[in-house]
Amino acid sequence: MTSLEGRVAIITGAGRGIGREHALYFAELGARVIVNDLGGANDGSGSDETPAESVVAEIRAKGGEAIANADDIADWGGAEALVQMAIDAYGDLDILVNNAGILRDRTIVNMTEAEWDDVVKVHMKGHFAPTHHAAVYWRSEHKAGRVKRRNLVHTSSTSGLFSNPGQANYGAAKSGIATLSQIAAKELDRYDVVSNCIAPGARTRLTLATPGLEDIMTQQSNGFDVWDPANISPLVAYLSTADCPFTGETFFVQGGVVKRVESWEMKETVEQSERWTVDDLARALAPMAGIDVDNVG
Ligand SMILES: NC(=O)c1ccc[n+]([C@@H]2O[C@H](COP(=O)([O-])OP(=O)(O)OC[C@H]3O[C@@H](n4cnc5c(N)ncnc54)[C@H](O)[C@@H]3O)[C@@H](O)[C@H]2O)c1
Repeated sequence: MTSLEGRVAIITGAGRGIGREHALYFAELGARVIVNDLGGANDGSGSDETPAESVVAEIRAKGGEAIANADDIADWGGAEALVQMAIDAYGDLDILVNNAGILRDRTIVNMTEAEWDDVVKVHMKGHFAPTHHAAVYWRSEHKAGRVKRRNLVHTSSTSGLFSNPGQANYGAAKSGIATLSQIAAKELDRYDVVSNCIAPGARTRLTLATPGLEDIMTQQSNGFDVWDPANISPLVAYLSTADCPFTGETFFVQGGVVKRVESWEMKETVEQSERWTVDDLARALAPMAGIDVDNVG
């Protein structure tokens, strides 16, 4: 059976929702878990240590090992302190699951500067800062000859990968996270780090705040609760194993469905050996737009 026995894992945003399920499942598989959660509201306001602490209490009650951390992962020093906590408490760090997130949905015309900045910060910097500090530690370990597999798992969203209207801040950040994961896979390969990304679908306070989703997300399929956030964790645990064969991949996961997501790719090409004019481009690109070349002026 797949095990995370003895591996040290940080899971951000693990006080509630999907991250909480990761923390419980990782501990069940033998990992020692740093349960990070700032404990704020859906929109990122406020803070509360209770969510992280209650997940730790649940893990310990079942005989697992865990420590609570309430640092803000979008704060450079907070992310550094989080990574250091794993090293101080458990002597190492093997796995970083970047999961914490907030929402402030708004159309582009109605979005305020703060709504843009806060959402982009929690997701993008909140993924990058812990990744940076973990990578600095992993590089020093590798250089010191302590070579072993380390795993990064990031959390994107179909809202970003497939451009959901009304979520420009969240979607842009989530799409950026998928790219960050791929760049981490390429840059950190030399330190034996694999980096993969998920785009989950589950019933949490985040999705329940979206009008219309509650009805869909309470539906079952032949008694299987396909929207249970616990359905996401086995894939994340698999991507966190020491012999995970993937790096640079993004997977959609919901219920019993796991789909590999294809990255951006180059498609039809027009090319000539000199700079294009606007008129020549209009003619050359017409077929891609479904326009008859004869109709181009
Ligand atoms: N639920 C879904 O269907 C779905 C779909 C796509 C992506 N996601 C992503 O999955 C991740 C988990 O979301 P969820 O649905 O479980 O939501 P959730 O609100 O239940 O959990 C997110 C947790 O992150 C914590 N958090 C927020 N900002 C933080 C910060 N700066 N530092 C530390 N912790 C912080 C919150 O306190 C909260 O407990 C998010 O990144 C979200 O964008 C969820």
